[in-house]
Amino acid sequence: WYHQTLSIVVVGASGDLAKKKTYPSLLNLFEDNLLPEYTVIWGYARSVKTHQQLRDHLFPHLIQTGASEIVVKDFLAKCFYHSGKSYGDEAAYAEMIASIQQFESQSPSPTCNRLFYLAIPPNVFGDSAVAIKQVGMAIGNGSWTRVIIEKPFGRDLETCNELLETLAAELTEDQMYRIDHYLGKEVVQNLLMFRFGNSCWEHMWNRNVIESVTLSFKEPFGTEGRGGYFDNFGIIRDILQNHLLQVLSVVAMEPPLGDDGDSIRNAKLAVLNKMDPISLDDVMLGQYDGYSDDPTIENKDTNCPTYAAIRCWIHTPRWEGVPFLMQAGKALDEKLCEVRVRFKPPTTLKSIGANNATKLCSNELVFRLQPNPSLELHNNIKTPGLPSNPMASIMKMNYEEMPNLSNPDAYTRLLLDVLRGKQGSFVRDDELRRSWELFSPLLHSIERDNIRPKPYVYGSKGPADRHRWFDEMGKSQDPLATASATHPI
Ligand code: BG6
Repeated sequence: WYHQTLSIVVVGASGDLAKKKTYPSLLNLFEDNLLPEYTVIWGYARSVKTHQQLRDHLFPHLIQTGASEIVVKDFLAKCFYHSGKSYGDEAAYAEMIASIQQFESQSPSPTCNRLFYLAIPPNVFGDSAVAIKQVGMAIGNGSWTRVIIEKPFGRDLETCNELLETLAAELTEDQMYRIDHYLGKEVVQNLLMFRFGNSCWEHMWNRNVIESVTLSFKEPFGTEGRGGYFDNFGIIRDILQNHLLQVLSVVAMEPPLGDDGDSIRNAKLAVLNKMDPISLDDVMLGQYDGYSDDPTIENKDTNCPTYAAIRCWIHTPRWEGVPFLMQAGKALDEKLCEVRVRFKPPTTLKSIGANNATKLCSNELVFRLQPNPSLELHNNIKTPGLPSNPMASIMKMNYEEMPNLSNPDAYTRLLLDVLRGKQGSFVRDDELRRSWELFSPLLHSIERDNIRPKPYVYGSKGPADRHRWFDEMGKSQDPLATASATHPI
């Protein structure tokens, strides 16, 4: 692909996603010399603009990436703009594609690939896909056409299926790249290597050694003007059904048969297939005080959760009886995303002169995605010096202390994967369907039965009784205990 011709079309070029993520990521790739020499980037949207007006609109966002003015200007020289009446305006797409064809005809490579980034709302994905199929597909000489889309992929299983069917009528699964940007974060990308490149972990990665796994997402701000969107979705759809569930499936999967996209996604799907739909009994919901004061929220009596904690089980020999907890919340005390793998407590205390009253820290392996990405192993060590009592200690691998660290933004990594045709970090249709199967019954019962979330203070750690909830829900269960207890010996 690197020596071939590339035409990129950013559909929705004047919107928020395009200026904050799509164009800056393309600039990062350009700066690192990772875009083919013959690349052109067309922006398409409804507002009428000249090429120069698009460049002027993008410039302040691109300069914020830290790239030099010369690099930004060189990059912008490759950017053009075309407008149409709608996102499905075939005639307008055809005019833009004619300019692309002219560029392709002047390029030295006979293989001319086309990448469409749909930075538009999902209700117009279908219209855009029809237009692309009609007039935009790359032709011949092994050229590919790829299309990137991003959530929300529906509100539940039914609406997700409608969207999947609409898109499947125009594009094949290997042309579709569904972004979940959490899969592009460094610590998540490292999970495969960490789990399967170090034999010690694979021996311990199971119910014999692990007590629980907790995935947490915390943000220190509320909806901040996004209330109109958020109130229709809530924290479960915004974070749990996608970002955290995706990370969970990588943490829990069996070794994939290979490193190709289908092997990885088959392994992730196998995890989702072994989970039960989430039950309301396994959920704690919260809403921060003052949430509905956001002027963009119409329903002032809204029961939309801004915090949710969920317990689920994975019914495989590896994980049976190990609770997987996920919590996500807005307007909490800090920005944080991490996975905590908690090991079972030691089986004997006598040999370390300890008893039940001795305070041992939980032995945990922590994958911190953000801020300050790191890997941490929490251990008990002897207090150094004359005392012999235990002390908590952390063995830490801090990414920011690595020499010559390059930590590209998740979108930059994922865009490069699209160009390379690597689909392993993109969500496949069957994974997406299964994720909605797991969450839709819960979401429907919250809405139908008007389940009220527990209030919590803006900037706090969440609902007051969450300690009790986590203590109760975080206990591993021995699935064989009941069976053997009732066995008539
Ligand atoms: C988005 C959610 O998908 O992820 C936002 O819609 C959230 O509500 C964002 O703020 C978090 O992404 P990151 O990369 O900043 O953790």
